[in-house]
Amino acid sequence: MKKVKIALLGLGNVGRGVWNILKENEEEIMKRSGFKVEVAKVLVRDINKPRGVEVPDGIVTTDFNEILNDDSIKIVVEVMGGIEPAREYMLKSMSRKKQIVTANKMLLATNGDELYKKADEEGVMFNYEASVAGGIPIIQAINESLTGNKIKELYGIVNGTTNFILSKMELENGKFDDVLKLAQEMGYAEADPTSDIEGYDAQYKLAILASLAFGTKIDVSKVYREGITKITDVDMEYAKSFGMVIKLLAIAKDVDGQLELRVHPTMIPETHPLANVYDSFNAVFIKGNAVGDLMFYGRGAGDLPTGSAVVADIISIVRTNIDVDNPISVVKNNLWNKEIMDVANVESKYYIRATVQDRPGVLGEVSAVFGNYEVSMHSVIQKGEIKNKSKVALVLVTHMTTEEKVRKALDELSKLNAVESIENLIRIEEFE
Ligand code: NAP
Ligand code: HSE
Repeated sequence: MKKVKIALLGLGNVGRGVWNILKENEEEIMKRSGFKVEVAKVLVRDINKPRGVEVPDGIVTTDFNEILNDDSIKIVVEVMGGIEPAREYMLKSMSRKKQIVTANKMLLATNGDELYKKADEEGVMFNYEASVAGGIPIIQAINESLTGNKIKELYGIVNGTTNFILSKMELENGKFDDVLKLAQEMGYAEADPTSDIEGYDAQYKLAILASLAFGTKIDVSKVYREGITKITDVDMEYAKSFGMVIKLLAIAKDVDGQLELRVHPTMIPETHPLANVYDSFNAVFIKGNAVGDLMFYGRGAGDLPTGSAVVADIISIVRTNIDVDNPISVVKNNLWNKEIMDVANVESKYYIRATVQDRPGVLGEVSAVFGNYEVSMHSVIQKGEIKNKSKVALVLVTHMTTEEKVRKALDELSKLNAVESIENLIRIEEFE
């Protein structure tokens, strides 16, 4: 049996998952790949931390040079996260002709180009299946299985932590902070969970998916982003009454050659397949001009699902590229040069919830403001409380309009004496 030595940079949630899969499925991996995959070194920050896995003596190190300078290590698996030193370690490893596997979406979305180019220059493979949607093989699907399609639209629930939080809030009346703590304990959340709850993690993942789906470079800062921290049980109740649910959706559309890219909480019909994606599950819904509608579904976070994608990337290198002189190019985002649409021009329907004074003429004032910006109303709900006679909750649902018009109307609305506060704005997607 041929043997290939690899090194893990990191032995946290994902690293442990990779370690356990390589042990548990050793025989399957050997039979399917023709190689025994041996973890020769593991890099960590704190050598004394309990790891929850049995690692033989002499393997764990805090010195990256032990990995870099060992020419018998052919594959470096980066599961440590963050920008530096992950970037530096991967670039140096490529210079030493080591093949790379990474799960690091933040680094890929912000510095991916430099890494893809370096991998091409050095003739090494660079695999990153685990960077988007955990265990779902979505990168492979877009890069290989769907190459015969023009992808027109892509919708993803790509963050396990926020989907877990929204699911517990919707189905079990869970409190935001308690559920976030649970997601951290389950190993779903990033080291800094702000990245999850404020939508950065999904923004990175959408930039990676869109760059592959549309074959173009994506400046991640141009991907519109909102997190879930403003969503309350009140919004969830209204959504339910409309036959909808709220999901943090990553949306990418090719609108006549311009790309619409946005991440935000979205009301979607409860009958759509994405509405039934709960817990830490992720899903990516794609519309291709040949294949039609496709949905990929699976665990989007956690040690073993993510480890499954990392191990698949290791095996794909072992099968196709170890000691091969002419590897396949890893650069796949420079086929076209597509422009990203200014979010002001994005069209959607909107749910707007405000608290207004309960007195004659208020509804008229509010609708006049929307009229001034040509925002047409689909429905208006006013709910008063017997105990509080001076204020009422006002919920408006618009017809299709642009983000710019709604923003301007809300700006003017917030200046009216009758409007106490604008509580929330949630976009509605009906997938028409
Ligand atoms: P984690 O639990 O925080 O583990 C990080 C590991 O990397 C730890 O073992 C840590 O060492 C090590 N490390 C960090 N900085 C280091 C440094 N400067 N030098 C040496 N070692 C260092 O993180 P994780 O959840 O496994 O995530 C790892 C990566 O996978 C991230 O890029 C994340 O975005 C991505 N990812 C995570 C998931 C998930 O479900 N968790 C899913 C998909 C992708 P110590 O243990 O000694 O501190
Ligand atoms: N923190 C991420 C999530 C991990 O919750 O989806 C998977 O990328």
